[in-house]
Amino acid sequence: MDATPLPTGSPDGLEALDALDALIRRRRTNLRIDAERAVPESTVRRLCELAQWAPNHHRTWPWRFAALTGDARVRLGACAAEHLRARGAAPEKVAKAETKYCRAPLMLAVAVHHGAADDAVRRAEDRDAVAAGIQNLLLGATAAGLASYWGSGEVLELPSVRALCGFEPSDELVALIYLGFPHGDVAAPPRPVPTIRFIA
Ligand SMILES: Cc1cc2nc3c(=O)[nH]c(=O)nc-3n(C[C@H](O)[C@H](O)[C@H](O)COP(=O)(O)O)c2cc1C
Repeated sequence: MDATPLPTGSPDGLEALDALDALIRRRRTNLRIDAERAVPESTVRRLCELAQWAPNHHRTWPWRFAALTGDARVRLGACAAEHLRARGAAPEKVAKAETKYCRAPLMLAVAVHHGAADDAVRRAEDRDAVAAGIQNLLLGATAAGLASYWGSGEVLELPSVRALCGFEPSDELVALIYLGFPHGDVAAPPRPVPTIRFIA
C-alpha cells in the first residue's frame, strides 16, 4: 500500500479537504433513478470494495453484499408484500410494496455477518463497521455519477429477505440501497451547526 502522505495544501489541511467536502455534500438520498439503465457489475464490485475499506475493530470483515437486479427485485417486493399482507395492511400498501424495488435497476442489500458472535460490544462494533462501509459506498456511488437511496424498515428483519439475498440466518441486514443513474436531483436538507465542546 502507498504510504506517501497526501498533500495538505495549507497548514490546517483545509485546502486538501475541498474535493472531499464537495463530494460528501453532493451525496443525496435520491430516488429519482432511471430504472431502465443498468449499473455495470464492475461498478458494483468497486463500490463494495470501497465499503470494505471502512475501519473494522478486530478485523472481522463483517460486510456481506447481495446485488439484486431483474426479477430478483420483484421477489424482494413479494417478500415485503407478503409481510404486509400477513399484518393486515391495506391492499394499496401491499400493491405498492410489490413494485417498489423496481424503481431502481439494482438493489444492493448490505448485511453484517455476526457468525457465532454473541458479545454485544462486538456485534455493535461490527454493525458500526458496516454502517461506515455503507457511507464509503454511497460516496463512491456519488463520485461515479450514481444516485443512491438507503432504504430500511421492517423489511430488513424478514427471514425471507435474508434467504433471497443468500445471507445466513444470523446475518443482520442493515440497508437495502437503491442504486442507479439519476434522472433528477433532490434538494439538500440543511444540517444543523455541529455541537462541539473543545475541552482542554
Ligand atoms: C440507517 C438509515 C436508514 C434510512 N432509511 C431510510 C428509509 O427507509 N427511507 C428514506 O426515505 N430514507 C432513509 N434514510 C435516508 C435519510 O432519510 C436521509 O439520509 C435524510 O433524509 C437526509 O438526506 P440526505 O441523505 O440526502 O442528506 C436512511 C438513512 C439511514 C442512515
